[in-house]
Amino acid sequence: MIRASFLDMAARCLHLAALLSFFSGALPFPLGPETGKSPTCGYESCHATQPDMLNVHLVPHTHDDVGWLKTVDQYFYGDRNDIQHAGVQYILDSVVDQLLKNPDRRFIYVETAFFYRWWRQQSSSMKQTVKQLVEEGRLEFVNGGWCMSDEATTHYSSVIDQMTLGLRFLNETFGLCGRPRVAWHIDPFGHAREHASMFAQMGYDGFFFGRLDYQDRSLRMATKEQELLWRASESLTPPMADLFTGILPNGYNPPTGFCWDQSCDDPPIRDDPELEDYNVDDVVNRFVAIANSQSMVYKTNHIIMTMGSDFQYENANLWYKNLDKLIRYVNAEQADGGKVNVLYSTPSCYLQELHRANRTWALKTDDFFPYADAPHDFWTGYFTSRPALKRYERISNSNLQTCNQLEVLGGPDSRKGPFGEGDSQTLKEAMAVAQHHDAVSGTEKQHVANDYARRLANGWQRCQVLVSNSLAALSGSTAERIYCDNLNISVCPLTEASKKFSVNVYNPLARPVSYPVRLPVNGSSYEVKDANGKPVDCQVLPVSSSTKEVRRSRGYALRELLFQVEAPPLGFTTSSVSLLKDGPPPASPSPRTPTSIQNKFLRVTFDPDTGLLSGLSNLETKQSIKLTQNFYWYNASDGNNTHSNQPSGAYIFRPNSSTPFIISSSAKTESIQGVVVQEVRQVFSPWVSQVVRLYSDRRELELEWTVGPVPIGDDLGKEVITRFDTSIKTSEYFYTDSNGREMLRRRKDFRPSWTLRQSEPIAGNYYPINSRAFIKDEEDQLTVVTDRSQGGGSIHNGSLEIMLHRRLLYDDVRGVAEPLNETSDIFPEGLVVRGGILLSLQPPPRAADAHRPLAQQVVLQPLLSFTEGELHPDTRLEFSGLQAALPPAVHLLTLTQWDEDSLLLRLEHQFQTGESKVNSEPVTVNLQKMFSTLKLLGVSEMNLSANQWKDEMKRFDWTPQTGEKPLLKEFQERSVWEATLRPMEIRTFLLRVR
Ligand SMILES: *[C@@H]1O[C@H](CO)[C@@H](O)[C@H](O)[C@H]1NC(C)=O
Ligand SMILES: *[C@@H]1O[C@H](CO)[C@@H](O)[C@H](O)[C@H]1NC(C)=O
Ligand SMILES: [Zn+2]
Repeated sequence: MIRASFLDMAARCLHLAALLSFFSGALPFPLGPETGKSPTCGYESCHATQPDMLNVHLVPHTHDDVGWLKTVDQYFYGDRNDIQHAGVQYILDSVVDQLLKNPDRRFIYVETAFFYRWWRQQSSSMKQTVKQLVEEGRLEFVNGGWCMSDEATTHYSSVIDQMTLGLRFLNETFGLCGRPRVAWHIDPFGHAREHASMFAQMGYDGFFFGRLDYQDRSLRMATKEQELLWRASESLTPPMADLFTGILPNGYNPPTGFCWDQSCDDPPIRDDPELEDYNVDDVVNRFVAIANSQSMVYKTNHIIMTMGSDFQYENANLWYKNLDKLIRYVNAEQADGGKVNVLYSTPSCYLQELHRANRTWALKTDDFFPYADAPHDFWTGYFTSRPALKRYERISNSNLQTCNQLEVLGGPDSRKGPFGEGDSQTLKEAMAVAQHHDAVSGTEKQHVANDYARRLANGWQRCQVLVSNSLAALSGSTAERIYCDNLNISVCPLTEASKKFSVNVYNPLARPVSYPVRLPVNGSSYEVKDANGKPVDCQVLPVSSSTKEVRRSRGYALRELLFQVEAPPLGFTTSSVSLLKDGPPPASPSPRTPTSIQNKFLRVTFDPDTGLLSGLSNLETKQSIKLTQNFYWYNASDGNNTHSNQPSGAYIFRPNSSTPFIISSSAKTESIQGVVVQEVRQVFSPWVSQVVRLYSDRRELELEWTVGPVPIGDDLGKEVITRFDTSIKTSEYFYTDSNGREMLRRRKDFRPSWTLRQSEPIAGNYYPINSRAFIKDEEDQLTVVTDRSQGGGSIHNGSLEIMLHRRLLYDDVRGVAEPLNETSDIFPEGLVVRGGILLSLQPPPRAADAHRPLAQQVVLQPLLSFTEGELHPDTRLEFSGLQAALPPAVHLLTLTQWDEDSLLLRLEHQFQTGESKVNSEPVTVNLQKMFSTLKLLGVSEMNLSANQWKDEMKRFDWTPQTGEKPLLKEFQERSVWEATLRPMEIRTFLLRVR
């Protein structure tokens, strides 16, 4: 418990504080009240095994989705059992009861969102009982995040946050015995390398999952490589991102014939010879046969069986009564030479035996996307499913990070201030729930999707109060602050009506950004002044007809006011806007397609006949490519096909043909030129339009697409894509990010670690794009930065396509039992979705310097708030929480209040090794010189999920088949305040502040 480094007191004030509270009676690990023994949780609590036998680890478990067919709270209570019989509260009640009946029994619990709900409702004696079960290792937490996150469509910052939330609750409730050793993603539909990297950095000893491509699985079974060592980063020094990974034998279900839940029909063990149908011999023989055959496809004399499934153990007696008997009768055979030993176990006990086996393991460096469970069943549709929810989730993360930062910067007044009581916790929990593998993935029922969105909206309401309080404290103005959440469709009642108002732009990035502000207005001429009272260039242009169509009756602005704001790092700037009485009238659009538009950095050319993009040139680097872009739709399979009856649905993408339909070979265009922006507005059809925007001071091109309502009058489901066809010689390669971090190389009809038999030429070449993708050759790299997670592929040389929207008429028989056919009150005829894509053209060696910061800028976007009229002259118009911008390689990932007097800070090196000539070097930041208003008293480093001190982080070491055993080198820093970050490294600090 006490570590040598503990003595370094000055540097470790927090540890000192922890030590003091330890001695003042707040024992982190209360002794078991009945046994009086010290805790024996973790690896110590595992049952003994038999070295000369086949050991079968039975893992009783339940898989509890944090929302899917029912909402998270319906699942908790067991409400709406007409939709699906499932009640998590009863599961936990029943399991605790049954664990108490036999100390050999084990259970693992995974989803802290549910456990937290249950725990709050327990009596103190029940809490004491459960603590004892945890301390004795009989109830063990695995994974332990708020939910079991999706891996394809989540952004790393939100995954880290949701893990931190769940693991913190477990630590605070159960101490060390509550720290999970194993990551457990038994259901997500494909596995991201970045998730493995994060789990390694969170201190997990191993990782288990259930789903991988069926071809990959059968090869791994043949070669006994279902257990492997995943090296999950090209930049982090091994073993920092090495994660032992096990593929479970049967998804996460029990072996055939051995499901004893109330939801199953397998025969119970009938062991009274006096009664009818005695079946012990039959059960034992069947079980031993299954165990022996399973052991043929794994390396050691230990195998694991997952005894449970979705929402099982509501009446845990059924399971445990039969498992007790199974163990007794199979092990009884040992007296007659039986070689199978069955035991109650947990994933960590199983992992410990694999570790003890001291073997070498196959090394894997790519990922597990895409996932197919049959030749025509590629789970690549959910990369795009519910694009509006995916965008709302992403923007909610931006709002949450701003809320967290302003809670710190504004001090205690932000939680309780002139605008009432606000909090960040509600949005933290809503975001954590939204990371679930049926939430942001878009694979839930419609009413559940609505519930996720409602939670995010509630959370944002609570944060708005906090943000208003904080900005009042920082600016000294208590003027009412208005937020406009619908600026993307030009709706903001205040700016539409006001003659004089101010705009506060808060920038959550740790570097200054130049941000184009675009506001709905009704006047024709305005004056805009920056925080120093200096007039800035502004432009008024008419609201487009497609914006009017999509906003419907929600706003009435005729025009948009545009100007550029320079926002300081981790701070705000305030601009004032006044209507001019007799300014010049705004220019009206020209009905011609310009042959080109350009600024200092870029030239964009158009084909005047079709109105389509035709080329892109970077004027600084003198590069030029041919580039055409258009919109298409794949005809979704309805299931009536020769090869398979699999339709396209929420999970699965299965086009009927590899050739998509073109929506229109030409676009009707109009264009607008001005000092801030040049726009070419393209209308492709009544349901597809786009604005091509080139801002005068930006190096990238913005494409704002609007798609919907997708017509289904022809009874055809449609999967809408945009495709860029370029002169870049891609030789079948393209690149996508993994959860927004490291880039992975993809190749058409190819998997890096096994020989693919391709059976779906489009869907089998789709990959998740979280924040960006690119294609390149020696000279040119075209990077596409997206504003949400989407699916995409490179089907032809030089081409990159992104799926934007999907509207489907059939369910894809993976359980959700609804076609993905989104409508809403405002769009009863089908959802309209609008989004943005940024295009950047750079020479490959310089491209990362552009796209890394660009992608962060889209993820963490400025928050705009408005005040009506003139501001009080004493109002502080500009503020930065930093003494200076952080170096370009460093991203401030997390700044959030931890408790009364400490903060959690995460700093990230945002470049990969070798990716950038200038930025891929280690960089040192002095924490004490970072913040402008915070006085730091102490610092302690933690693991990535902030549930363990960094210097206590000891993970199992594993040897890859290559033989080399990596040893982690310790870096000595000159001072505790100096943090050196190496490429792709994230460091997590707990800072004590005054
Ligand atoms: C593991 O195996 C290696 C080589 O095979 C051996 O040198 C080492 O002593 C073994 N370690 C343990 C703990 O058995
Ligand atoms: C775990 O929780 C205990 C009790 O609240 C706290 O004292 C300790 O600092 C926490 N550990 C970590 C690593 O956060
Ligand atoms: Zn699930």
